Amino acid sequence: MNIVPQITKPHLLSVEDAKALDLPKMTEYFKDHLNPGQLHFMKLLGFNKVKIERAEGMYYIDQNGRKILDFFGGFGSLAFGHNHPKVLEARIAFQNEQRHEIAMAFLSQYAAALARNLSEISPGDLDMVFLGSSGSEAMEAAVKVAERAAGPDRSRIVYAENSFHGKTKGVLSLTDSPLYRGEFKLVDETVRVPFGDIDAIRNAFEADTSIGVIVLETIQGGGGIISAPAEFWQELRALCDKHEVLWVADEVQCGMGRSGRFYAFEHAGVVPDVTALAKSLGAGKCAMAAMIARRDVYMKAYGKPNTALIHGPATFGGIGEACVTAIEGLNLLYDEDLIANSTAQGAYLLERLTDLKNKYPKIIKDVRGQGLMVGLEFQDFSQALPAMLRPVVSMLDEKLKGSLSGFIGALLLRDYDTLVAFTEYNRNVIRLEPPLICQREHVDAFVNALDDLLGRGIVGIVKDFVASQVK
Ligand SMILES: Cc1ncc(COP(=O)(O)O)c(C=O)c1O
Repeated sequence: MNIVPQITKPHLLSVEDAKALDLPKMTEYFKDHLNPGQLHFMKLLGFNKVKIERAEGMYYIDQNGRKILDFFGGFGSLAFGHNHPKVLEARIAFQNEQRHEIAMAFLSQYAAALARNLSEISPGDLDMVFLGSSGSEAMEAAVKVAERAAGPDRSRIVYAENSFHGKTKGVLSLTDSPLYRGEFKLVDETVRVPFGDIDAIRNAFEADTSIGVIVLETIQGGGGIISAPAEFWQELRALCDKHEVLWVADEVQCGMGRSGRFYAFEHAGVVPDVTALAKSLGAGKCAMAAMIARRDVYMKAYGKPNTALIHGPATFGGIGEACVTAIEGLNLLYDEDLIANSTAQGAYLLERLTDLKNKYPKIIKDVRGQGLMVGLEFQDFSQALPAMLRPVVSMLDEKLKGSLSGFIGALLLRDYDTLVAFTEYNRNVIRLEPPLICQREHVDAFVNALDDLLGRGIVGIVKDFVASQVK
């Protein structure tokens, strides 16, 4: 006879308990169970003092009812802003209808419709879709489909300096960061070229016939909002055709309308062989990602019954509510004219930031970007910080030493209720990727805040930041 063990419920927090956690408890659990090292940065920037209670449109709302303007936008994950009512409506309807979620046994009408919509939006014969849950997963799928279609003799992959394609084990080999790579064992079949350097790519293709795939972000996000001119992409397409190399365009951050086209590569009028989306595809409410491949590339890799499951559906690929969310988001992008809005507000943001650059040439080095994917680069003060401030600043943190971005980001939040994002590889760059619902008044509020802050001068900014650390 089987003895049925007595299972006692561990001391678990309920959803209501979670909602009610205060900042000291949140901090304790974060430190003990999530990421103690990350807490260090949150403290440095003052982000640990904020408990978000609600989020709506362009704003977070904290425990004190303070509205925080979101010019960070989850690195491009919030095209529709926070909790877009139409997205909520679609999700609630789906829940109320008690639809099924896991789409592995039966055909899913929602996964089918989402794949069809992505194919309809994507130019050329980018028709075949793999659904996943993260940008890294979509990029893994993109690299795998290309590698299989290129064939075993063409397995070498070209990638760019300062690239970011994710942190999972495969794409880590194409993510150009010593920090993220750590001491992990990488794929050694790779060739690194400077971003946007067509001669380097031509030389690589000519020198090495085992190169079968090239992987590039269309606009580098983690690299500090770096683009290449249309001619680069056109020449790349021609080179890839000539050498039969498959071009994988990573649009995880710059896609979904952010640059002013659905895909950033559309600015150049060319079509890659494989692309990937994530972030805003989940409409700010869920994890959704897609790899989209040209039909012949996909069919070559997985087109037969005996190859179909080599990289077949993931457990959560095509999960119901996430598909509904993405379908609603894609419709909204056009119904609310958000792609054109990205162009219009992005141009206005760049114009106003350029005025600020002219006003503060000793502080702002460059402003650049396309649509609402904008980089604001500060002068590098690591060597030029006033001598009296240097020791205090370096004591605070090695990474922030001399970088105005950290100070400015922290003070924008503390004094102006405004959130911006930092850049992995270039600590002098602030990335501005607000929701595509952004209006002129939001751009004005952001630029006016920045203007006021920069008016304090470098010494004022650093002093105020240092003072914020001892409070
Ligand atoms: C260009 C690009 N590719 C891939 C990724 C990885 O996406 P995820 O963090 O969803 O895995 C990111 C994330 O920032 C990204 O910016």
